[in-house]
Amino acid sequence: MKNSVLEDKVRERKLLDALFDDEMMSWSKGILERYNRLMAYYRCAIMEVETKFNVLNEEFSLRYDRNPISGIKSRLKKLDSIKEKLERRDLPLTLDTIEEHIHDVAGVRVICSFVDDVYLLADALLKQDDITLLEKKDYIANPKPNGYRSLHLIVTVPIFLEHEKRIMQVEIQLRTIAMDFWASLEHQLRYKKDFDFTEEMAKELQDCADLSAQLDARMDSLREHVESENTYDVE
Ligand code: GTP
Ligand code: MG
Repeated sequence: MKNSVLEDKVRERKLLDALFDDEMMSWSKGILERYNRLMAYYRCAIMEVETKFNVLNEEFSLRYDRNPISGIKSRLKKLDSIKEKLERRDLPLTLDTIEEHIHDVAGVRVICSFVDDVYLLADALLKQDDITLLEKKDYIANPKPNGYRSLHLIVTVPIFLEHEKRIMQVEIQLRTIAMDFWASLEHQLRYKKDFDFTEEMAKELQDCADLSAQLDARMDSLREHVESENTYDVE
C-alpha cells in the first residue's frame, strides 16, 4: 500500500515536471493562443451573421409591420465536441482540420414566426454579395425520418480585422417556433442518460412532429388570410 502511494507521488512529480517544462510551456501557450484567436474569429463571424439577420428583421418589420424573427440563439462549439467530431472522422485535432472540416464551430439559430419567413430570410441573406453558400439542407421540404424539420445553411462570411480580411464558415439553422419547440424537446429526451427510444416512443415523436407541421401550416394560412384582408382594407 505504502509503495503504491509512493509510486503515485513519483508519477505525479514526473507528470508535473513534463507539463511545466519551459519548452513544453511555451509550446502549449503558443497553441492555446492560436486556438483562442481562431475562436475569437468565429465569434466575430457569429456577430456578423446575427447583425445581418437583425437588419433584415428591422427592414421587414418596417415593410410588413411585423417581425419575421422571434429570436436568435448562437453558440460556439466547445473543444470537446470539436475533438469528438474529428475523432469520429478519423482526423487529427489541429487548427487547420478544425477550419477545414468542422463546418459548425460557429452556429446561428434563427427562430422565425412563420414557415414563409424562414425562406424569405434565407433568400434575403443568400442574396448578399459577401455571403457564399457552401451547403443547403432543406429538412422542411424533406424532414428527417424522425420528424426533424429546419432549414440548414452553411455559409462563409468575411470578417474584417485590423490588417486582414478573413473568410469564416458559419452554420445557420432557420426554423419556426413550432419546429424549435419539437427539436429542443427531442434533443433533451435523446440526451437523457442510459435511455434508448423504443419504437413506440419514436413513433410518438414522429406524430408530434406531424402535429407541429400541421400547426405551422394552419398558422401560415391564418397569416395569409389576415394579410389579404389588410391589403383589401388599404385598397
Ligand atoms: P453533424 O455531424 O451533426 O453536423 O451532422 P450533419 O453534417 O449530417 O448535419 P445536419 O445538417 O444533419 O445536422 C446538424 C445539426 O442539426 C445538429 O448538430 C443539430 O443541431 C441539428 N439536428 C440535426 N438533426 C437533428 C434531430 O434529429 N434532432 C434535433 N433536435 N436536432 C437535429
Ligand atoms: Mg453538420
